[in-house]
Parts: sequence; C-alpha cells; structure tokens
Amino acid sequence: QIPPGIACARDYELLCEHFIPAPTLAYLAGGAGHDRTRDANLAAFDDWTIWPRLLRDVTHGHTRLALAGAELSHPFLLAPVAFQKLVHPGAETETARAAAALGACLVASTLSSAPLEDIATANADGRRWFQLYFQPERAATQALARRAEAAGYEALVVTLDAAIRLPSLSALRAGFVMPADCAAGNLQTLAASAEAFPAAPPGQSRIFQGAMRAAPGWADLDWLRSETRLPVWVKGVLHPDDAADCRARGIAGVIVSNHGGRALDGAPASLAALPGVRAAVGADYPLLFDGGIRSGGDAFKALALGANAVLVGRLQVWALSVAGALGVAHVLKLLREELEACMAQAGCATLADIGPHCLAAAHEPLA
Ligand code: FNR
Repeated sequence: QIPPGIACARDYELLCEHFIPAPTLAYLAGGAGHDRTRDANLAAFDDWTIWPRLLRDVTHGHTRLALAGAELSHPFLLAPVAFQKLVHPGAETETARAAAALGACLVASTLSSAPLEDIATANADGRRWFQLYFQPERAATQALARRAEAAGYEALVVTLDAAIRLPSLSALRAGFVMPADCAAGNLQTLAASAEAFPAAPPGQSRIFQGAMRAAPGWADLDWLRSETRLPVWVKGVLHPDDAADCRARGIAGVIVSNHGGRALDGAPASLAALPGVRAAVGADYPLLFDGGIRSGGDAFKALALGANAVLVGRLQVWALSVAGALGVAHVLKLLREELEACMAQAGCATLADIGPHCLAAAHEPLA
C-alpha cells in the first residue's frame, strides 16, 4: 500500500524512519567519515538554477533515450544498493519487479541479499545490468560474470571506488551490526566481499597490506573485458583523467559517482565533477551519473551538465521500506513526471534538447 500524503519521491525519506530501525537507518543514510561528501552531493544541486523558457512547442515531447544499444523510455536507472533485505523481506526481488514495471534499467549489486538469478526472474522482461565487485580470486570474479551473463544481465558495471571503505561513523555510533540473516546472496562468505575490512598480519597496515591487497588494477579490468561478452562499465569515476583512461582502454561507459558519499569522505560532489568528466570523454561517450538525485529537477540538472541518464540510490531504499515494489515504482513514476514537467517548463521536448544552456549558476549574476 502506498500511504496517503506522499507528494514527491523525497517524502519517502520522511516516512521511512517509521519502517526502518534507527541503527539500520544510520547505516543506509550515512556517508563515509563525517558525511561531508554525502552532504555535498545534495548541496551541489543548489549551485544551479534552471531557465524557464516560454512559448516553446513541446507537444511532441518524450523522455526516450538509447543507451548502450537499449531503448529506454526514461533516463532513470536503479543504482546498485547492497543488502536490501535490511528493509524488506522481498529485498531486491521487489525493486526488480518495480524496475521492470516502470521500464527502468536495474543495476543489481554483487552484494544483493537475493541471488542474482532470483533478481533476474523477478525482472524477467526488464532490462538489467550487474554491478560487479572484483573478488580476491579471479575464478570467483569470473564465476559471477558467467552467472550474470546466463541470467540475462546486459552489462557489467565494475565499481572501483570501494576497494577500501571506512565504516560510517553515524552507523558505528548508532551501534549498527549487520544481522546474521543478511548475508550476500551471491557470495559464499561475506569476507570475500568489498564491504569487508580484512585483517593484516601483525606489524602490517590493515589498509595497504590488508584491504588494498585485493584491489583491482588496469590489468584486471583488461582481463575482465577479454573474459566476458558483455560490455564493461566503470562506476565511481570523478577525476576527468580517470574517465579519459576508461574511454581509451575500451570501457563501454562510465558512471560519475562517489558511492553516495560512502567512499572517500572529502571527495567532490558528484554533480561538481560531472562537467569535467563530460569534457574529458567527449560528447559521444556513454556517461551516467549518481549522487544526491532526489527529484526530477535534480535529474534535469545532471542531464544538462552532461549525463545521458541518472541512477537513484537511497530513494529506492526508502520507498522499498515503506511500500515494497509498489513504493519503488511510485518513486520512479514521481521522478519521471517531475522531469517531464521540468522539461516542459524549460522548453525542452526531448532529452537531446537539455544542455548547459538550460542552467544558470546560482551564485553568479545572471548574464
Ligand atoms: C550503495 N551503493 C553501492 N554501489 C555499488 O556499486 N555497489 C553496492 O553494493 C552499493 N551498495 C550501497 C548500499 C547503500 C545502503 C547505499 C546508500 C549505496 C552506492 C549506490 O550505487 C549509489 O552510487 C549511491 O547510492 C547514489 O547516491 P544517492 O542516490 O543514494 O544519493
């Protein structure tokens, strides 16, 4: 049931505290460290305003786009979000159903509670990509890629910004502990996952000789590309040079992201990094964006600054906790309608009409 009184996607954030225990909410909402980057992600949208334009005919308007060979009816994807059983017993199978129903491409996490095959079944006629964390052993990485291929995932999204992650301070303070029944459904042991923080031998650094020992390098990415028939994307790009390297090394596309502020605390806001990345990869390279999208207007700004489409992370979790698949579908519908209204008011009939000329910097005099 969708509770009455939900007027926009973000209303689920207000409601979800009645559905999620406080320590779990702290884990889900938290960023890394002192939450600087998480908060910057949201604040960055206030650096831009949108020009209203008058008397434009948008009656032929639509939000369709072609993305990596797929025809999508709108530019909202569901970002990979781990351990969704924390907020709903149906976990990722609920989000997968919502994605299929609303025509949103689903990016399923390596660290999903449900196995990727169950997610695929729930998403049967939907479009889905698989977010791959490199595992310490290549055979395990390869096995995940094979399973994703077999289950109808159409791309692999390698997340590279989380080889090491400090725990969220707010989650620590709230006493959050991952429940025993919340294992990663795709993996034999959680110790093999990127969320773990492995021990190092005495006298060695838990970071350099511990967590980073298993971190991938370019050779691993090249290996993965040669191993799979699926296009390989990279998620977690912020620096323009990293984006240019991805393009030069044959990566299919990149996702500008700072993991919702959960990786390097102090990293730039995703939106602030976006124009530089677009400039570095050129106009024709597939480029997605996430970090702080809470409304259709936010999506409009990201599209104007160079993204082809956007992913939503926390919004889907809030809605999942409140109303399962129905809630997630509702969020996608609300976002799409807000984007359409924004496009119409800005005089943009199609996504191709949205560009930097649609925005004005909020803190500078208007030209
Ligand atoms: C994430 N994110 C993430 N990313 C990824 O590549 N693999 C994963 O397993 C997860 N897990 C995860 C769990 C939780 C609780 C959150 C909040 C986020 C990051 C996610 O894909 C995305 O980059 C951000 O969530 C986008 O920011 P917003 O939309 O949450 O502001």
